[in-house]
Amino acid sequence: MEALTVAGRTEVLITDTLPSRLLPERPDRRRVAVLTQPGATHVALGVADTLRSQGLNVEVIGLPDRDEAKSLDVAESVYETLAKFGLGRHDAVVGVGGGSVTDLAGYVAATWLRGVEVVHVPTTLLGAVDASIGGKTGVNLAGKNLVGVFWHPTRVLVDLSILAALPPSLLREGMAEVLKAGLIGDRDLFELLRSRGNDADLREVVRRSVAVKARIVDEDERETGVRAHLNFGHTIGHAIEFASPLSHGESVALGTVAAARISEKLLGFGHADGVESAIEKFGLPVEIGGLDHNRVHDLLRLDKKRDSQGLRMVLLKNIGEPLVEHVDRADVEVGLSAIGL
Ligand SMILES: NC(=O)c1ccc[n+]([C@@H]2O[C@H](COP(=O)([O-])OP(=O)(O)OC[C@H]3O[C@@H](n4cnc5c(N)ncnc54)[C@H](O)[C@@H]3O)[C@@H](O)[C@H]2O)c1
Ligand SMILES: [Zn+2]
Repeated sequence: MEALTVAGRTEVLITDTLPSRLLPERPDRRRVAVLTQPGATHVALGVADTLRSQGLNVEVIGLPDRDEAKSLDVAESVYETLAKFGLGRHDAVVGVGGGSVTDLAGYVAATWLRGVEVVHVPTTLLGAVDASIGGKTGVNLAGKNLVGVFWHPTRVLVDLSILAALPPSLLREGMAEVLKAGLIGDRDLFELLRSRGNDADLREVVRRSVAVKARIVDEDERETGVRAHLNFGHTIGHAIEFASPLSHGESVALGTVAAARISEKLLGFGHADGVESAIEKFGLPVEIGGLDHNRVHDLLRLDKKRDSQGLRMVLLKNIGEPLVEHVDRADVEVGLSAIGL
């Protein structure tokens, strides 16, 4: 088992199997609400059994799948269940699932009784290396994650045996974020992915990506500076995700190719070919057809990183050297044409 601490508050444990003591020591905890989603129910039921065997009173709450879970309506119905269950100030919420579960569980825990403990058991690669760590919680309204608070879990339990059993499509999606971690903060991780693709050792992949996220969150918890680097590949990626049926990971893969090509043009980044071949090796898309070009530009106009001088994107000067730069329409075109748009 490997352990590291994030933001001085979260113990992240990377294990081969879940430990018998799932929660940090706390003598006055009586009740635990386990929030989960369809694909992670098998893990959640095991977690609930383990907690019950330690004398805790456990309620398992099933959420709708994927981002359907991240709504104020769902949060309200969870609050109602927590009220009936009697979850108190010294009790805990446990999120078992992908990022949509941990985002909603974190949000509910942060707001229930003005804040109760939350622990996460991420069951997707994306959840393990990104969403469950760093304290960002939230629900969607008209846009993604418009309502949320920072609320750090006390513990994140990453069970490698759960991740090793993921269906290939979910593993690939997570690999887009793992590649991002390598590109913005770990050259050895990038080289490992470039040479091994999906066959890269999972423990190494998780350990290194978690370390990059932890380091960035430690440095800039509230995203006033370097935390923005975690958005590499996400500016054009989010626009594609919104305008197409592609998943988050597939869209980020395309956004990553585009951002690498823009980096090549503006900052002389020398690894754009390597980035593209790593993404191809994962089986993620590097080109997309059939999307309206102007629609992507329109969506980019709504990007949160835009300021009075225009669109800002995270670009790479080199592996491990991200920079936030203003880009104009012609720069964006270079990225879009690289992915067939
Ligand atoms: N808070 C953050 O910092 C942060 C960072 C990145 C992403 N996110 C959020 O994370 C969400 C995406 O997370 P995700 O990609 O993990 O998706 P997800 O939670 O939507 O899960 C994807 C699918 O995987 C299934 N699933 C989960 N575990 C499984 C398992 N072990 N085996 C088989 N199927 C399983 C789920 O049922 C679902 O159908 C988005 O809402 C995004 O906004 C948050
Ligand atoms: Zn992402």
